Amino acid sequence: TRFLTILGRTTLVTILAGTGAFYYVTYKERHPGTQLPYDPSKKTIVVLGSGWGATSFLRHIDNTDYNIVVVSPTNYFLFTPLLPSVAVGTLSPRSILQPTRYETRHKPRQIKVIEATATNVDPKNKTVTFSDLSPIRGQISETTIAYDYLVYAIGAEVQTFGIPGVQDKACFMKELKDAENMQSRFLDCLESAGFPGQSEEEIDRLLHMVVVGGGPTGIEVSAEIRDFLEEDLRSWYPELAQHIRISLVEAMPSVLPMFSKQLIEYTVSSFRKHKIDVLTGTMVKEVKDKSVVLQMPDKSIQEVPCGLVIWAGGNKQRDVTRDLMVKLKDDQKSPRGLQIDDFMELKGASGIYAIGDVTHTSYAPTAQVANQEGAYLARHFKTIAKRDALLAQRDAATSNEEREKIHARISKTKMRPFHYTHQGTLAYIGSDEAIADLPFMNNNYASAGTATYLFWRSAYISNLFTLRNRTLVAADWMRTMFFGRDVSRN
Ligand code: FAD
Ligand code: NAI
Repeated sequence: TRFLTILGRTTLVTILAGTGAFYYVTYKERHPGTQLPYDPSKKTIVVLGSGWGATSFLRHIDNTDYNIVVVSPTNYFLFTPLLPSVAVGTLSPRSILQPTRYETRHKPRQIKVIEATATNVDPKNKTVTFSDLSPIRGQISETTIAYDYLVYAIGAEVQTFGIPGVQDKACFMKELKDAENMQSRFLDCLESAGFPGQSEEEIDRLLHMVVVGGGPTGIEVSAEIRDFLEEDLRSWYPELAQHIRISLVEAMPSVLPMFSKQLIEYTVSSFRKHKIDVLTGTMVKEVKDKSVVLQMPDKSIQEVPCGLVIWAGGNKQRDVTRDLMVKLKDDQKSPRGLQIDDFMELKGASGIYAIGDVTHTSYAPTAQVANQEGAYLARHFKTIAKRDALLAQRDAATSNEEREKIHARISKTKMRPFHYTHQGTLAYIGSDEAIADLPFMNNNYASAGTATYLFWRSAYISNLFTLRNRTLVAADWMRTMFFGRDVSRN
């Protein structure tokens, strides 16, 4: 009885403490304090973008020393690793978004957040021009502002290689609207296949889903579609489920080149076991309204009927980034992205710092890299603020002796270069299985299966930036487990 009493009390105390902590954190998140106002004597950092790199920068920067302006066409941060789960309704779109103002309102000094698209950067005059391209615009929808420092973190867009039909006929998987679009079109294919009198051949076409690109995006999208089919569609569309076919098309001889060989083999055999056709060495040459044109490994051309093409062909730089490269052509020679030094500063331009997918470095274009670069740059700006303050003191010094003393302090201000720490590569491969290449004591530890999937889930939930997102994602996972995915089309 005593043991049970102690156990009961401990449980009660734990529940009360947990509830109290939850209430405290959510209260703090919802009630930001007062902030320092804009200070014209401080330097201005303009941040372009609100993705992984920019949000990590905003999260870590101590902006007491700076005025900050954020310009982005999306007024939120999108947790891209869980985007394929939104495309099939495992997660709700809002669960993986974090409004940028939720971040900036908690900083010591006010930050201006502007929903607009940067259209031009002038590195000579240190200005950036941006436009409101949203459907509703005020009288003014374009302006140019000056920056002292520019954090350039606008990411990349989807690479289509100019292949006919891709841009207007395929679905992408890069932004929130892409996932919502794919979900709607996928369900539309199902409903059209169920229309009375549809021929077997037409049902097969409508329910053939072609995923292009065997990188991690293509793999995860294929895996999510398969889960949707097995866990939900078989119940709600029993007459159609056996017609659903998923083909994954990859131009290179192998999928997932960034993973170790055994994990590639594991993924391919798991896909084949679950009836996902993996066509390697096969290149998409055109996307048509009702088919996709493939160049097979033997170079023959085949036109394959399909209902939906999901394009995950990799990254390319945005027009505004390419324009910037042209302006700095003596120092920017890589077509793959902006070249930066060890401190993230753009080669050939002073005061512009580039992070994430806009850069071409020795690191892969991943969230992990952009996140670490953003955090690094925030710390670096603390050192820059110190150095700028000393430079101002030196310029105001009245004697040579004082000037030299300050000069000595300036030369001691150490600028530490960026150092990337790889924490591993993970991907979801469907049927409650994931693969992971994890660095362990200077070696690589490859793991796959259900335990890895649980690790994948816990890693992603802990990487979500806020308690709000963690709660929403956990609740969505529970909703899907108990009630399944929603098959209503919006
Ligand atoms: P982004 O996060 O893309 O942010 C770019 C920002 O710039 C956005 O806010 C955008 O609205 C804004 N913007 C665009 N144009 C302009 C403009 N003209 N002016 C101003 N702002 C602009 N990486 C991993 O490490 N692990 C994963 O599991 C993983 N999963 C992924 C899953 C998917 C489906 C995708 C698409 C990518 C995934 N990645 C993953 C890669 C990762 O998302 C990117 O590497 C990361 O988003 C790059 O961060 P970024 O800040 O450079 O760009
Ligand atoms: P990717 O560049 O990794 O893969 C694109 C694939 O599409 C390539 O393998 C390419 O050969 C193929 N392809 C291109 N054109 C083709 C065509 N015409 N026909 C057939 N195949 C064609 O792109 P992805 O997967 O979008 O990833 C982009 C970045 O985001 C990568 O750096 C990746 O590591 C990262 N990412 C990481 C994830 C993770 O860690 N779980 C998940 C998703 C993305």
